[in-house]
Amino acid sequence: MSKPKVGIIMGSSSDLNVMQQAADMLNEFAIDCEVSVVSAHRTPEAMMEYATSARDRGLTVIIAGAGGAAHLPGMVASVTTLPVIGVPIKSSNSIDGWDSVLSILQMPAGIPVATVALDGAKNAGILAAEIIGTFDAEVAEKLAVYKVTLQEKVQRMNDAL
Ligand code: RP5
Repeated sequence: MSKPKVGIIMGSSSDLNVMQQAADMLNEFAIDCEVSVVSAHRTPEAMMEYATSARDRGLTVIIAGAGGAAHLPGMVASVTTLPVIGVPIKSSNSIDGWDSVLSILQMPAGIPVATVALDGAKNAGILAAEIIGTFDAEVAEKLAVYKVTLQEKVQRMNDAL
């Protein structure tokens, strides 16, 4: 089996400050990723090409972020059998963030998108790693270590009280 790789896509480079957090988490778990701007509305043909070729190009999971009328994650999910994690972004054209959340969350039956919290790209990166960790023991071990660091962080909070 080839090395797992995550595709991170976003509707605009203005989403990058949020989506970078997914890349940072994957980097922490030593998982390869490729980052691209692919817009459902501005480059629909490129989006279809990206999504339909994703598995053959060796991607394991896709993380897709978009804001406002956020169609990118759902449209990508509609044409790939790879798991798609959606990141709703509170973008400049988003009213209050709910538009992004609901556009990505409320998918029709049959086309799932695993939607994380508003601007929740960090969790998207961790979730992608957990999917990969189901078949990659090294990644699973790194995830276990990461969870211990979270416990230690809470312990330090208690120690400081
Ligand atoms: C969405 O529109 C993008 O994902 C971005 O969140 C938002 C605004 O895009 P820009 O106008 O900043 O390029 O499609």
